[in-house]
Amino acid sequence: MDLLLDETYWRTRYATGQTGWDVGAITPPLQDYFKQLGPPDNRRILIPGAGRAYEAEYLHRQGFSEVFVADLAPEALEALQQRVPSFPGGHLLQQDFFALSAEPPYDLIVEQTFFCALPRTLRPDYARQCAHLLRPGGKLVGLLFEADFGPSSEPPFGGTRSEYRAYFEPYFKFIHFDTAYNSIRPRQDRELFICLEKK
Ligand SMILES: C[S@@+](CC[C@H](N)C(=O)[O-])C[C@H]1O[C@@H](n2cnc3c(N)ncnc32)[C@H](O)[C@@H]1O
Repeated sequence: MDLLLDETYWRTRYATGQTGWDVGAITPPLQDYFKQLGPPDNRRILIPGAGRAYEAEYLHRQGFSEVFVADLAPEALEALQQRVPSFPGGHLLQQDFFALSAEPPYDLIVEQTFFCALPRTLRPDYARQCAHLLRPGGKLVGLLFEADFGPSSEPPFGGTRSEYRAYFEPYFKFIHFDTAYNSIRPRQDRELFICLEKK
């Protein structure tokens, strides 16, 4: 039987310190993308499955005022709040990504090691929910593993670019979809940088 990747599972991972995905800082592909966004503004940015959310910290410190993080695990959101007390409490969404409201819609969704942490069966739903949460012209930007992690029942779950294309093509225009050139070393040549625009 498949492992249930629910709130209890993720809370246990935090409580037992099994957070190998957490690199302790913003990663270069996302930092470089954020740097070229221009001056900070009030665009609505969502980071789902944000974990300890170093990307949210970076955007907040840059002056982006409408940054939201969603995670099932309160431990993850508390870590951000402790590091960055000025991060607005109302922007910490302890919620299931698939239950998030699109009112008002987001301008940008940031992906990093959330998609690969979901059961594979939810991948079409992930693409649909991202499209639902974004305004037309809004973007889904981030990283997807292009790697095979074997048959494990625990995340991360890998995949191929042709598989991923099939999920996103119904809803998004592909602006960028290629191997990241600035991945952290352990992920080098094993992740795609994606920038998809909602149709
Ligand atoms: C592998 S971690 C990645 C965390 C973060 N993106 C990072 O790169 O450090 C996956 C995160 O997704 C959260 N998560 C899993 N399923 C979720 C869901 N359905 N809704 C919201 N968060 C979820 C987990 O609690 C966990 O913090």
